[in-house]
Amino acid sequence: MSQANNKQIKIAIDGPAGAGKSSVAREIARRLGIKYLDTGAMYRAITLKMIREKVDLDDPRQVEEVLNNTQLDVKEGNIILLDGEDVTAEIRKPYVNNMVSPVSAIPAVRRRLVQMQQEIAARSGGIIMEGRDITTRVMPEADFKFYLDASLMERARRRMKEQLAAGILDSLEEVAEEIRRRDRIDSQRADSPLCVAPGATVIDTTDLSFEEVVNGILLIIASS
Ligand code: DC
Repeated sequence: MSQANNKQIKIAIDGPAGAGKSSVAREIARRLGIKYLDTGAMYRAITLKMIREKVDLDDPRQVEEVLNNTQLDVKEGNIILLDGEDVTAEIRKPYVNNMVSPVSAIPAVRRRLVQMQQEIAARSGGIIMEGRDITTRVMPEADFKFYLDASLMERARRRMKEQLAAGILDSLEEVAEEIRRRDRIDSQRADSPLCVAPGATVIDTTDLSFEEVVNGILLIIASS
């Protein structure tokens, strides 16, 4: 695909936690010179707000009220501002990990964030977006759709490495258990569950290096 076409290209990536979506999408965005949007970070920020406000997630009125009184901004480099505060590091902490899947399953939360994500896609030209419902709900018309997967233990190992770099010292078993629990909620929820979209290319990254995944995706794009 030519550089000129990259200006409009839409690439959607879904997959379970720890499959490498964020680092792969960031690198592809850099190589193609397009925008990258980490939609999980947006769900994490809303989750942080719900935790801080001690919202009863079973009470739709409380959830709506908080959503209506929340200002969420995604800046260059996926810096996340929640009511003006930079929460980019805070949303990666285990107490947010533990609540993000239940909050993401709430239809009102999804409606709000899907709308924001579609607006960002519409005004951004070329974009690569990753999450759980990008290929199925946010950009089903994307030029390229990928589903990245890997074995549970490999995903736990990758997540643990990232967490260690951020100073979070959970054991491999704890990380694997948290991922297993999130996978279950994310793929069993009623509203846009994680699944493989029609026409998506499934890539099992368990035994692939980061470079192999990035180059494999770029090859598919270039040869289309
Ligand atoms: O990619 P991540 O681990 O940062 O995502 C955090 C959670 O957000 C994930 O467990 C489910 C939710 N999520 C979602 O429901 N839809 C998306 N498009 C992205 C994330």
